[in-house]
Amino acid sequence: MGKDVIIALDVDSREKALAFLDSFTGEKPFVKIGMELFFAEGPAIVREIKARGHKIFLDLKLHDIPNTVRRSISILAGLNVDMLNLHAAGTKAMMEAAMEGLTRPDGTRPLLIAVTQLTSTSQERMKSDLLIEKPLDQVVMHYAQNAAASGLDGVVCSPLESGKVHEACGKGFLTVTPGVRFADGDIGDQVRVTTPARAKELGSDYIVVGRPILKADDPVAAYRRCVEEFVG
Ligand code: C5P
Repeated sequence: MGKDVIIALDVDSREKALAFLDSFTGEKPFVKIGMELFFAEGPAIVREIKARGHKIFLDLKLHDIPNTVRRSISILAGLNVDMLNLHAAGTKAMMEAAMEGLTRPDGTRPLLIAVTQLTSTSQERMKSDLLIEKPLDQVVMHYAQNAAASGLDGVVCSPLESGKVHEACGKGFLTVTPGVRFADGDIGDQVRVTTPARAKELGSDYIVVGRPILKADDPVAAYRRCVEEFVG
């Protein structure tokens, strides 16, 4: 599994998604479909983008009882996506159930990635709202180890955490990292950001890039710049 740039297709309609993808004439970027586009357009948009030849990370962050997650994830795997995710907070029993539901009848399966703690969760909120007293980075690493022990393929994390995750869970455990910005770009609402080149040095396996590509004057050029810096 090589390093790759995943474009976060954060738009709210089929028309906008396809118009954006139409601008790519040479390559077929790996794209992430999140709740916004999926809830707006349903599974049909996944099938349509897949039929155009793109790899898809379907970012729906499942979190429910093990039986429900096992059954639901097998439906999502049936859409022939390449990567799915869930919340590690659902416990190892939920993650193991997800792994059971993941393999398709033909023996293939998408990658399954865990969200540890959302980057919007601060140390203070975790303590006051969730009653978790431990340091945030220790919680993130513990959840990553739970994911690895449950047979998952990797975690979503900051590029700044990629090295630690690889140390704790092994080099082959994937780190999928948002929070990427060009050195000369706007950071928007992201707080701890790194450039694609720095994410590569830090050992990220995939970078997820939204606005720096979607909002660029020339999105195709911005995508190519990411690939050049990150994949080389
Ligand atoms: O536009 P931007 O590059 O910030 O988009 C990053 C993408 O990664 C968005 O789809 C965002 O929801 C997602 N994401 C994130 N931080 C996380 C998990 C997902 O920014 N911890």
